[in-house]
Amino acid sequence: MAMTYDEALAKLKEQGQEHLLTFWEQLDDEQREGLLAQIEEIDFVDVERMRAALEQHKDGVAASLGAFEPAPVIKLAETGDPDVRELGLTALRAGKVGVLLVAGGQGSRLGYDGPKGCYEIGPITNAPLFEIHARKILALEKTYNTEVPFYIMTSEANDAPTREFFKANGCFGLSPDRVIFFTQGMWPGLMPEGNLLLDGPNHVFVSPDGHGGILAALRCRGVLQDMNDRGLCTLFYFQVDNPLIEIADPDFIGLHLANEAEITLKVCAKRDPQEGLGMVVTRDGHSEVIEYSDLTDEQKEERMPDGQLRLLYGSVAIHIFTLGFLQREADQALPLHVAHKKVPYCDETGRIVKPDSPNAYKFEKFIFDVLPDAERALNVEFAREEEFSPVKNAEGDDSPATTKRDMIAKWARWFEACGVSVPRDADGTPTVLIEIDPCYALNAEGLKAKLPPDFKIDGDVLLRE
Ligand code: UD1
Repeated sequence: MAMTYDEALAKLKEQGQEHLLTFWEQLDDEQREGLLAQIEEIDFVDVERMRAALEQHKDGVAASLGAFEPAPVIKLAETGDPDVRELGLTALRAGKVGVLLVAGGQGSRLGYDGPKGCYEIGPITNAPLFEIHARKILALEKTYNTEVPFYIMTSEANDAPTREFFKANGCFGLSPDRVIFFTQGMWPGLMPEGNLLLDGPNHVFVSPDGHGGILAALRCRGVLQDMNDRGLCTLFYFQVDNPLIEIADPDFIGLHLANEAEITLKVCAKRDPQEGLGMVVTRDGHSEVIEYSDLTDEQKEERMPDGQLRLLYGSVAIHIFTLGFLQREADQALPLHVAHKKVPYCDETGRIVKPDSPNAYKFEKFIFDVLPDAERALNVEFAREEEFSPVKNAEGDDSPATTKRDMIAKWARWFEACGVSVPRDADGTPTVLIEIDPCYALNAEGLKAKLPPDFKIDGDVLLRE
């Protein structure tokens, strides 16, 4: 039985939040039902934690205060150990590896309206991000004759369109019973004085609780159980915005297994001191990621005597987790991160106001805050040009233009590794468009095995399975 008006009023009064019912008299039955359901959902224990985090934030207590050291990093390229790779291959072939994609964010910086995974990025076909990721997983299944379940975290804001997109596209060839969607939680925001806010007469403002919300969601939605039932041990985790991703590559999985790590992170050197990457550090013997927004400019720019940045390596949010570690952490209340945002709200007269400057606070959990709890964490450096070129902004760095450029450059290197020359301009930039479906080839080796011997490039190249 859903909550009644009287129960809702009592719950809110206890917290001094009865303004959420200001417009009750004007609402129709359906609107009332929706509002009551939202009020029922609000957990005032969480809200108390948000208020405490907000007070700390206002006092300027940065998470990064206290002594920390840059974390040790090993290089993926230098390892190249066939035994390590074999460990990864064995886990894949045995069906012990699953893939976990966080796609519940709102992609507001890109200015794209809709699930970010639907954003079209294929340089020739306009293949959307979701298609590129799904086809890589399908290619892994085919190459290693295995099953790789694909778990996708969405949020209330984009769950339905995400599911519909996969359905309309036949899951891009994946077996639908191995594409598992689950939603993360939504959290209310706070006004500066600590009040919840409405963004419509019948609606409390809520937003996704951050990718750290995945821990609670995995447990509440029965996903940990599903992973167990399928016999998975190792989960490859990544973000939706990076089509250069090497999903569940055997070398990376092998390193994680060989080192008996509970969590392994891919890291790369910052492009410049201000690049928005979370930095990998150790504090009191534990690993940690400090988000860029929690560091001062001084900390971001500090250099060693040899001129290198002291905090050089950043996490690109490509991780491997052991399932046991996720299970152990599932009930962990992660710390809250506070962001001051422009949040449209409903004023006392029922009018929706779109503020010009930040007016309210949003709260998020970050998955990397589990790091200090790991008995063993590993940071692995990889080559950025091979694996990381996210679509974050509409223009400039990390925009569709730079991502497409980097995709083409990577495929051009594959062709050259196969002895096929690629037309380039004076700067070395390919002068043709290139696109290779992951199911045609997952890497240069795979391409070599498929290309006809006399293959030449004399125009744009599209290779599809
Ligand atoms: C993120 C990382 C940063 C990392 C960088 C690499 C955080 C806080 N920062 O920055 O350390 O170096 O990527 O590209 O993670 N998401 C959800 N639910 C949410 C919020 C986000 O699923 O509630 C997902 C998004 O869909 C996306 C990913 O998490 O796939 C990253 O979110 P985003 O807000 O774009 O993080 P960045 O600031 O780009």
